[in-house]
Amino acid sequence: MAEGENKKIIYSAVQPSGNLTIGNYAGAIRNWVRLQEEYDCFYAIADLHAITVRQEPEKLRRHTLELAATYLACGLDPEKCALYVQSHVPQHAELCWVLNTLTYVGEASRMTQFKDKSAKHADNINMGLMDYPVLMAADILLYLADCVPVGVDQKQHVELARDIAIRFNNRYGETFRVPEPLIRRDGASIRSLQDPAKKMSKSDENPNAAVFLSDDRDTVLRKFRRAVTDSENSIRASEEKPGVSNLLSIYSAFAGCTVEEAEKTFEGRGYGEFKLAVGETVADVLAPIQAEQKRLLSDRRYLTEILKGGAERAYKASRKTLSKVYRKVGFFQGE
Ligand code: TYM
Repeated sequence: MAEGENKKIIYSAVQPSGNLTIGNYAGAIRNWVRLQEEYDCFYAIADLHAITVRQEPEKLRRHTLELAATYLACGLDPEKCALYVQSHVPQHAELCWVLNTLTYVGEASRMTQFKDKSAKHADNINMGLMDYPVLMAADILLYLADCVPVGVDQKQHVELARDIAIRFNNRYGETFRVPEPLIRRDGASIRSLQDPAKKMSKSDENPNAAVFLSDDRDTVLRKFRRAVTDSENSIRASEEKPGVSNLLSIYSAFAGCTVEEAEKTFEGRGYGEFKLAVGETVADVLAPIQAEQKRLLSDRRYLTEILKGGAERAYKASRKTLSKVYRKVGFFQGE
């Protein structure tokens, strides 16, 4: 992009709700790093979203700082993008309130994630859980984001954000940009290593289902060794082979190749050898990230400064949008 030309705006976030998995890395953060070179990027730590399921306050605070360190350790550069904590910028909750009045209970209750989480947390189906995608729409629309790099599981939420933006613009006049989800072909839907019908998730009860960014080499290798495959012993991606397809997808995301190239690499080899190679490739990528994250966590003051700077940038950018919205909906703002 030429100097001086208006850069496109990118928005995304991760919840500080526990250890990150390699799914979060492959589906989201890995792509953010690339995008920061060309675009104006806002990357948040979505703590407001995280409390829609119960969090222990001390752990939430710790996970927030750890996630900030992870962002930096994965290669996000605070000079190139705004890294901040969602609750530090009040405009998110404020815009969410306005957007709530343009969102129907029916459409919010039809969201797949709401249905899944309601089933999983049947004792805590709170209003925030249902409002989750509207808050996400507020996040995205506040910055007039053009693109939202996420994994496949968040596509439906970005589509709702688009619908809400269009609805607002139709009712009150052109205000929001209609965002596009940005979903990579490879790595955007990493599945559980134990049950590839499910996505790999931070909160899976089976300890072998997810590989965490914090897992040491032995743990990574062990989890991949135990990953479910099938009885065919042929390494190719296909719908009938969800376990092997998932491993190929993980390999391609971590080795930086396509799934087709990965299939060629492993042609004629056995599952044991394949699983070991996938594990080693993942562990090799994680090792420097873990070392850097550890180093950064020993300097909490530095991390706090980065988050403060990011929040200031985010605050400035989003304040303009919010006052425009308040004016459009008819809130009195002084004579
Ligand atoms: P979270 O923390 O659940 O997920 C963060 C990102 O990781 C992606 N992801 C995956 N990608 C591939 N395979 C997987 N198994 C996998 N699991 C998770 C998610 O798609 C997501 O991109 N609601 C968002 C956080 C958020 C947000 C936003 C995102 C809050 N506000 C505004 C974009 C724009 C979420 O899912 O967080």
